[in-house]
Amino acid sequence: MLRVVRQYPALLALSAQLGAMLLIGLVLYLAAQLSPWRPTLLATGLLQGLLAATLARYLGLSRWWCWLNLLFVPALLLASGAPLPSWVFLCGFVLLLLLNWNSFGERVPLYLTAAGARQHLRAVLDQQPAQFRFIDLGCGPAGTLLSLARHYPQAQFVGVETAPLSFAIAWLRALPRSNCRIRYENLWRTDLAQFDVVYCFLSPAPMARLWAKARAQMPAGSHFVSNTFEVPGVPADRQVELHDWRNSRLLLWQMPGC
Ligand SMILES: C[S@@+](CC[C@H](N)C(=O)[O-])C[C@H]1O[C@@H](n2cnc3c(N)ncnc32)[C@H](O)[C@@H]1O
Repeated sequence: MLRVVRQYPALLALSAQLGAMLLIGLVLYLAAQLSPWRPTLLATGLLQGLLAATLARYLGLSRWWCWLNLLFVPALLLASGAPLPSWVFLCGFVLLLLLNWNSFGERVPLYLTAAGARQHLRAVLDQQPAQFRFIDLGCGPAGTLLSLARHYPQAQFVGVETAPLSFAIAWLRALPRSNCRIRYENLWRTDLAQFDVVYCFLSPAPMARLWAKARAQMPAGSHFVSNTFEVPGVPADRQVELHDWRNSRLLLWQMPGC
C-alpha cells in the first residue's frame, strides 16, 4: 500500500491534505473547549495550507507539490467567497486536466524549461553541424522548441506531446515554422534513431526506461540531454548547473558506438 502511495505523488499530496485537516480539526476542537479563541475561516485555511505543505515536505514530495498543498485550501476558500459562476470552476478543472494529462499515467506534469536552460542548450547545439535534427520528448506548448527552431533555421525540430491542450497549442504555434513539426504521439512510440539530439524534461519516473530506449535506438555520437532528471545508475558525461530556484541542471550523454 505504502509503495503504491509513493509511486503516485498526487495520493501522497492528498494524504498530506487529509492529515492537515485532521490536525486542524483537532486543534480547533481543543481551542473551542479551552479558550475563547475563534480564528476566521481564511486564517484556518492558511494554517491548514501551512500544515499540509509541511507534511508534504516531510513525506518527501518535491517543492512544487508543497506549493500546491500550501495554496489549495486557501484558494478554495477565496474562490468559494467570490461571486463566480460554477462553470468557471469546471472550465478551470478541464483546462488543468487537458494540460496535465500525463500527470497520473506517466507521472509527468507540465512545467517549462526556463530561459537559462535554453541558453545552455544552445551552447550544446552550437557544436552540432548546421543541419542537425532535434526532438523534444513531451514538448508541452513548445516554447523551448520554437525558440530553438527560430535560432537554428537550417536544423529540423520535432516535438511529441500527448496532453491534448498542450499539443493543440504547440501545433498551432509551430504552423508558421517550416523547420518545426509537432506530432500527437506518445514518446514511447517515437523512433529516436533519426535524431542527433534528444531532449527531455520529464520527471524521475520514466528516466530508467527512457535511457534503455535511447541506448537501443540512438545512433553512436548522438546526444541525449535531460533537464534536471538523472538516469539511475548512469552518471552523465557532462553536467551544467543552471543555478536557478529549481536547482535545475542539464545532464548530457553522448551515445557510445556498439
Ligand atoms: C515537464 S513538461 C516539459 C515541457 C517542455 N519540454 C519544456 O521543457 O518546456 C513534460 C511534458 O511531457 C509530456 N509527456 C509526458 N509523458 C509523455 C508521453 N508519454 N508522451 C508524450 N508526451 C508526454 C507532458 O504532457 C508534458 O507536457
